[in-house]
Amino acid sequence: MKSFDKLQAQCRDNASMQAQWRDNAFMQALFGKPSPYVPVWFMRQAGRYQDWYRALREKHSFAKLCQCPDLSAHITIEAVKDIHADAAIIFSDILLILEAMGAELDYVEGRGPVLSAVRNEADLDKLRVFVPESLEYVYEAERIVRQNAPKIPLIGFAGAPFTLAAYLIEGGTSRDFRATKTVMYSQPIFWQELMTKLSRAVSAYLHCQAEAGVQALQLFDTWAGVLSPADYRRYVLPYTKPLADGMPVPVIYFAKGISGYIEAVSEVGDVLSLDHGMSLGKARDILGDKPVQGNLDPMLLLADFEIVRQRANEILEENCGRPGFIFNLGHGILPQSNADNVRRLADLVHEYR
Ligand code: CP3
Repeated sequence: MKSFDKLQAQCRDNASMQAQWRDNAFMQALFGKPSPYVPVWFMRQAGRYQDWYRALREKHSFAKLCQCPDLSAHITIEAVKDIHADAAIIFSDILLILEAMGAELDYVEGRGPVLSAVRNEADLDKLRVFVPESLEYVYEAERIVRQNAPKIPLIGFAGAPFTLAAYLIEGGTSRDFRATKTVMYSQPIFWQELMTKLSRAVSAYLHCQAEAGVQALQLFDTWAGVLSPADYRRYVLPYTKPLADGMPVPVIYFAKGISGYIEAVSEVGDVLSLDHGMSLGKARDILGDKPVQGNLDPMLLLADFEIVRQRANEILEENCGRPGFIFNLGHGILPQSNADNVRRLADLVHEYR
């Protein structure tokens, strides 16, 4: 972890994007510079919508695929090749850090992840301080990707503190996040301790990924949108903004359902990843020069390609050729998606002028 300061000076500064990446469209957009075409990648670009991924899953559990560096690196690169994406995202999951801190984690078929809940001081005490070496398999996978696909920018990632806190407090996903909000409103000290513990863990984890050689980091705040604007500012922003500001490489912040407080959310990180709840053109008008990523509704990939084509073109037109735009979805690709639609969508974005 010694060379963070050097990394920070080298990579975050707009003027000194490393020479090897100067002609790369994804990196240009990431730094808000003009690119010859709109770069594209997709959240969950590796997953069950692909035959080859399903075949791998028949042989190995999801946890094994994440925890074996050779398999994780292989899947990461295979997904890029399959759809001709402009960036790779390391094949992993936001919840693994919680398991590394001692939470019990199980991915239950058809129900999503299930975790041991953390709702009081005693539960919190049982959650260990994160030891960065415990996720060495992630850094190793990233080093393998850097070695085997050196020309493709690699994105490392983590869950943002609020979304991780919500998973811990609920013990999994939730419809209304009642337990999370109850804790947040009625146990201020506990909330502060939990968010501080998670922020420190995520910061150390992301620093290690930067050290392993990733070009960008994405912070997933999937559930940030369940709060009111004032509560987002009060309970989430004070932890999330400094976390992103402290990173040595550019940070993409993904928050879902935040069209009502896009200004507050845009204070976090270098690029804002938008969901499909707001028009891209309007978001860009509000945010000025801030680079953005997004924001096609992933459900469209279940429909005929003609509809995908029309909606994707609408987004590209709304961008009006502004620099600093990375095409993506408003959320991850669904397992039921048509893989050909995904490939054709990436081609369409690349051909757009
Ligand atoms: O984007 C990528 O391709 C990189 C890999 C990635 C996964 N999860 C793989 C995955 C990333 C970036 C994530 C992030 C993640 N994980 C988020 C934030 C983004 C979002 O989707 O909101 C969240 C909330 C999670 C937690 C999580 N992991 C859930 C809710 C689930 C279950 C849903 C499901 O599809 O079963 C997972 C499992 C998971 N993570 C899978 C994959 C490919 C499916 C595992 C399988 O093969 O069965």
